[in-house]
Amino acid sequence: MVSKITFSSRRRSFRPDALLVLVLVLLSTYEGHPMEGFCAIGGESGCALSSEKILIMGGTVVNAHHKEMSDVYIEDGIIVSVKPNIRVGDDVKVIDATGKYVMPGGIDPHTHLDMEFMGTVTKDDFFTGQAAALAGGTTMHIDFVMPVNGNLTAGFDAYVEKAKRSAMDYGFHMAITKWDAGVSTEMEQMVNEKGINSFKFFMAYKGSLMVSDELLLQGLKKCKSLGAIAMVHAENGDAVVEGQKRMIELGITGPEGHALSRPPVLEAEATARAIRLANFVNTPLYVVHVMSIDAMEEIAKARKAGQRVIGEPVVSGLILDDSWLWHPDFTTAAKYVMSPPIRKSGHDKALQAALSTNVLQLVATDHCTFNSTQKAFGSEDFRKIPNGVNGIEERMHLVWDRMVESGQMAITDFVRVTSTECAKIFNIYPQKGAVLEGSDADIIVLNPNATYKISAASHHSKSDTNVYEGMTGKGKVEVTISQGRVVWEDDELKVTPGSGRYIRMPPFGYLFDGIQKVDASYLASLNAPVQRSKATS
Ligand code: URP
Ligand code: ZN
Ligand code: ZN
Repeated sequence: MVSKITFSSRRRSFRPDALLVLVLVLLSTYEGHPMEGFCAIGGESGCALSSEKILIMGGTVVNAHHKEMSDVYIEDGIIVSVKPNIRVGDDVKVIDATGKYVMPGGIDPHTHLDMEFMGTVTKDDFFTGQAAALAGGTTMHIDFVMPVNGNLTAGFDAYVEKAKRSAMDYGFHMAITKWDAGVSTEMEQMVNEKGINSFKFFMAYKGSLMVSDELLLQGLKKCKSLGAIAMVHAENGDAVVEGQKRMIELGITGPEGHALSRPPVLEAEATARAIRLANFVNTPLYVVHVMSIDAMEEIAKARKAGQRVIGEPVVSGLILDDSWLWHPDFTTAAKYVMSPPIRKSGHDKALQAALSTNVLQLVATDHCTFNSTQKAFGSEDFRKIPNGVNGIEERMHLVWDRMVESGQMAITDFVRVTSTECAKIFNIYPQKGAVLEGSDADIIVLNPNATYKISAASHHSKSDTNVYEGMTGKGKVEVTISQGRVVWEDDELKVTPGSGRYIRMPPFGYLFDGIQKVDASYLASLNAPVQRSKATS
């Protein structure tokens, strides 16, 4: 079924009432950019602070720590009350959630909207990507700002522009692609002035984004000093180039060459290297898109040894296998090209098991869409196929079906891996990631008995393909509430361009607790410098 999208006009009024104080306190963590399209305290810059009053009745409220039968009352974009039998007046919209789960909206920690990459630009921008997200129950995402010629400020400014048509809350990570004193200072500005608390280092994409170990080491040190999380795309970029050369020499130019040129060993090597360098610096490390058993086991080993390493699988890695890359139709095969590659059957199940046992902690999408025309840039040479797959709309449904419906994961853990853990890692919990009094009213109602079917014909992404085409599952997001407004109901989207708010993420989240104590005991253990009497000649 093709759902309808209604464009709401932008709400410009802010209605003060008894919740004003609470709203203002929460707003202090929203961005106060003086530029248009970003929220300012009081909503005077046009932020869509809703005055809608909503009661969600009779459902099971699920948080990462607890689930209980309860009603939820929302006003002015904030959760006001979570308790049974809430009574309201006629001016309140009532949603019957009997037999359904009421959960925090999903937070996708890894997306690329409107990104220039491999000579083209991703198909989904901040509006279409977010519309798709909302239809699938994701109410916040964190996108990667790409520097402009290595310059962070220029990159940030460009993404401020791109995000002006946002329809939901979002935050930014920042990629680091070169190193000098200017970048080091700009990292300070990004953290202290712009609300960014994470930086990504690409260990692959040689010749464009890839960084050296020397840069990574400097970056890790800087991240530590700023209380910012270092993130890595872990593949050995030099070896990938060698692998690509090998495939071309063998006459393998199709999409299967992509998987063959960058095997799991290259992901494991870079993952292990990044983990050891982070250990040497004693700073937390976040490994994005963990695609293989080999990389996952490096993370498991480090965590077992007590190191603070976060492992992020993506939906494609949890659900798909690489057989698609051998499909005889180029267009079909090319849509599965992403990096690190989707692996052989078996890796998917192992990553699911790792997720269910907290070896891996949260699920992303790496939503980075290119349509068939863009993917065809590599029809003669797999190295030119733009890397990336969709997932922002499908993540919540697929994780529910494969992990909860299958019995592999508790419902509370579903909330943890799709929302709460992300909010905690990036230091915005409990504003986000919880159905608690005072939290933002980003909420979904999921019907565990309803079914869905995924198709490019009905999805909300602008891409003409979907890597999950034809998949069916149980457990459907029937209602999405974003910023206290119902934006998805009865398969209809009501999205508001420009209503999205930039969420500042403060540094020194929980992963930094105790780091200084470990540093102190390291220094105490050195027994150096040794005090020696001066040698006499
Ligand atoms: O293939 C991918 N993953 N594309 C997006 C860029 C990245 O490496 O995250
Ligand atoms: Zn990456
Ligand atoms: Zn990515």
